Parts: sequence; C-alpha cells; structure tokens
Amino acid sequence: MSIPTRSFVLAGFAGILLVSSGLQASGNAAAPPDPAYVQECGSCHAAYPPRRLSGASWQAVLAGLDKHFSVDASLDPKIFTEISAYLNSQAGRQETASADGRPLLRITETRWFRHEHDEVPEAAWKRPAVKSPSNCGACHTAADQGRYSEHGVRIPQ
Ligand code: HEC
Ligand code: HEC
Repeated sequence: MSIPTRSFVLAGFAGILLVSSGLQASGNAAAPPDPAYVQECGSCHAAYPPRRLSGASWQAVLAGLDKHFSVDASLDPKIFTEISAYLNSQAGRQETASADGRPLLRITETRWFRHEHDEVPEAAWKRPAVKSPSNCGACHTAADQGRYSEHGVRIPQ
C-alpha cells in the first residue's frame, strides 16, 4: 500500500520540476500581469512587457499621461497608484536612457529592441498591417497575452 503514496509524491515532485523549468524556459518568472495595468494600458496597444523599460522610464511615461503620444491616457488617482507600483516593481534593472541621459519613453528606441529586431527588414515596419514598431501584436501573435517568444512571430507581408 505504500507504492501509490510514493508514486503520488514522485508525481508531485515531477510537477514542481516541470513548473520551475517552465518558468526558466520562458525566461520570465515574473508574477502574472496586474489586471489594472492590462486593462488601462493594454486597450490602445499591447500591455507592454514592464521589464523592457527602467523604473525611471516608466515614471517618465506615467508623468506625461495627459499628453501621451498625442492622446490623453490619464488615470484615476487610485488606479494610477496601483499601476505605478506595479511598473516600479517589475521594471528592468538596465537603464533605458537617451545618449544625453534622459529616460526613454519608448521600448522601441532602446538598444535592446534595435538589437532584437535587427533582422526585420526596414520596409516591414511601415507595412499597412504593421504601421508602427510599437504595434507589437502585428508580428507577435500572442502579445496580448504578454508572450513574445520567437515561435509566435509572423511578419505580415
Ligand atoms: C488612449 C490610447 C492609449 C492608452 C489608454 C495608453 N496608450 Fe500608450 N500609447 C498610445 C499611442 C497612440 C502610442 C504611440 C504608438 C505609436 O507610436 O505607434 C503609445 C505608446 C506607448 C509607449 C511607447 C511604445 C514604444 O514605441 O515603445 C509606451 C511605453 C506606452 N504607450 C505606455 C502606456 C502605459 C503605461 C499606459 C497606461 C498608463 C498607456 N500607454 C495607455 C496610446 C495609448
Ligand atoms: C514587424 C514585426 C515586429 C514588430 C512590430 C515587433 N516585433 Fe518583436 N520580433 C520580431 C522578429 C522578427 C523577432 C525575431 C524573432 C526570432 O528571434 O526569430 C522579434 C523578437 C522579439 C523578442 C525576442 C523573442 C525571443 O524569444 O527571442 C521580443 C521579446 C520582442 N520581439 C518584443 C517585441 C515588442 C515588445 C514589440 C513592440 C514594442 C515588438 N517586439 C514588435 C518582429 C516584430
């Protein structure tokens, strides 16, 4: 009668191993995205991956929400506080700043982004189905779930 118990324990242990290796494989052990962030900051574009900008960059983005890339994306103060805390806790540790040291407001202007996308042909960024590099979901078919793995990439022709 001890065999079922032992295999149960082993199955549970294997499950833990699978879960932790899954997190490592995705390279992102972060908590699931904050629902307020996804709702408020994912309605006009993808809820961008928080670790792709520094805390200073996120604060600069949040400081200008009333004139956010020519739209008004202001938030109610309570939601603002929640989203601000979330982005601060999940921000990247690398600085994302311009050459003169000001925090960048765009992931698409970071060195990381340029490097990761150097194989994308210049003309592809301007295709009607893409329109802008900021439109992650045009090529990353699971961007709305925060997933950017190379398996889900399809550049519209
Ligand atoms: C009313 C629509 C709207 C809402 C809501 C909105 N944004 Fe934006 N956002 C835009 C537009 C428009 C752009 C510019 C897109 C482009 O250049 O193609 C943009 C661009 C950005 C970029 C730069 C993307 C890049 O090029 O790397 C960041 C970062 C960003 N938004 C963060 C946020 C955050 C954080 C929130 C929530 C507090 C938010 N946005 C809510 C409209 C919105
Ligand atoms: C025009 C299409 C296109 C757009 C728009 C685009 N990407 Fe990409 N992205 C690619 C391609 C192509 C790759 C390289 C895939 C590979 O490594 O084979 C890539 C790679 C990546 C990777 C690395 C994936 C991996 O597992 O190696 C990340 C993360 C990423 N992009 C995030 C973004 C984000 C965030 C945005 C929006 C701000 C964005 N991308 C916009 C096409 C695009």
